[in-house]
Amino acid sequence: METLTGKDKELIRGSWESLGKNKVPHGVIMFSRLFELDPALLSLFHYNTNCGSTQDCLSSPEFLEHVTKVMLVIDAAVSHLDDLHSLEDFLLNLGRKHQASTLKRRIHKSVVGESLLYMLQCSLGQAYTAPLRQAWLNMYSIVVAAMSRGWAKNGERKAD
Ligand code: HEM
Repeated sequence: METLTGKDKELIRGSWESLGKNKVPHGVIMFSRLFELDPALLSLFHYNTNCGSTQDCLSSPEFLEHVTKVMLVIDAAVSHLDDLHSLEDFLLNLGRKHQASTLKRRIHKSVVGESLLYMLQCSLGQAYTAPLRQAWLNMYSIVVAAMSRGWAKNGERKAD
């Protein structure tokens, strides 16, 4: 597993400190951006509440629960920056749960990563700098690499 530099960790921790206290609204910004970039993702949420449009989805309690789950994964990663490998099994399993091929492609090809960066940019304003962006990208790629080992273990092609 790749590692992060001390500077990466410092930038990530510092920027998450306030965002992490207010997870859902930030998660909603991230997913609103995701659906803007890739509206086809809406159809992957099959909840009781109709997720036919972005607005329907964003007001669905089940969807907001998923937003919370996503933010808690980010929170866990930020809390384990010194030993991200301890999340390996959890992330492998999470990868398996997200192995629909359309979803793998999105997570891999980084529409999800772009949406995460967009949320950080909106929330941090001037504190969103090039090194900070790179630090988050480095963490994202470690998390995605572990998730994709879950897909690979399931006999799926990694780059699918
Ligand atoms: C591309 C967008 C994504 C889609 C369409 C998607 C879809 C889903 C669906 C349909 C479920 C099962 C129902 C549910 O629990 O709500 C789920 C569960 C979950 N998702 Fe996602 N997901 C996406 C991205 C992510 C990301 C980026 C993360 C975190 C890195 C994440 C974390 C989780 C977690 C923690 C669960 C619960 C797993 C469990 O039940 O053990 N999801 N996701």
